[in-house]
Amino acid sequence: MAHDHMIELLDLDAEVLHEYFRDVIGWVAREAADHPRVVDLGAGSGTGSLALARELPGSTVTAVDITPEMLAHLRSRADAAGLGDRIRTVEADLDQPWPDFGPVDVIWAAFSMHHMADPAKALASAFGALRPGGLLVIAELDSFPRFLAGTPDEAVELRGHAESAKRRHEAGLHMHENWGDRMRHTGFTPVTERRFDIDLRPPLPAAATRYAAVSLSRMRHGLEDRLPPSDLAALDKIVAGLAGRDDLSVCTERTVWLAVRG
Ligand SMILES: C[S@@+](CC[C@H](N)C(=O)[O-])C[C@H]1O[C@@H](n2cnc3c(N)ncnc32)[C@H](O)[C@@H]1O
Repeated sequence: MAHDHMIELLDLDAEVLHEYFRDVIGWVAREAADHPRVVDLGAGSGTGSLALARELPGSTVTAVDITPEMLAHLRSRADAAGLGDRIRTVEADLDQPWPDFGPVDVIWAAFSMHHMADPAKALASAFGALRPGGLLVIAELDSFPRFLAGTPDEAVELRGHAESAKRRHEAGLHMHENWGDRMRHTGFTPVTERRFDIDLRPPLPAAATRYAAVSLSRMRHGLEDRLPPSDLAALDKIVAGLAGRDDLSVCTERTVWLAVRG
């Protein structure tokens, strides 16, 4: 069930923030060689794998994830999109020695590097897996999406985010790393960095309301023992009332690094 919610959240993220994804994927497509062999690290529900397979003609994509439910969803999406023959799935724990992917031209790691137990080791593995001149693309979140900016409910949402950030820090997740410096240190050069400040204002499509509901409800349930009962009750009320609102927005900041294996 937890995986179902995460899968829905990732799919909604791709749907609601489609302009950001189109921009990033277009950038990678311009930089990549012809017919690239792509590896998608922590592929999740398949946003990156499918978009890269679509945008990079003749590419083949190896989608790697530790979670079999994610890979099953990705596989069915790839088949439904007619991309099944160009996307293969590999179940692997990337904290362990990596499988041999064969020659690799592009490694795409969206919102997955922060999960790696040892970022330096993961970057060294990526360097070792890529052919010279190959590309490593890392996308990370500077902030998780906020939906209630400028509304009377903004403060409780911000308190929730602050607690969630503490919880992630305690769990050892590598948020807010300087991946550019880490990539250069590993031997990648040059490294290009782009920041995306996403601020979608009303009216928003229906998917954005669902995205807000899944995100806020996930945040609320993760903070059961960390927020005061008044904030938990306020979040419950907000989630229950989202469908009738016309003041929601989607604000999030992301950074993408594109680096060449020297
Ligand atoms: C936040 S999701 C990102 C999914 C996808 N890249 C996207 O952009 O929507 C992180 C993914 O990394 C996977 N993951 C976390 N730790 C991992 C590990 N040690 N090895 C392989 N995959 C891992 C999770 O199962 C999850 O699917």
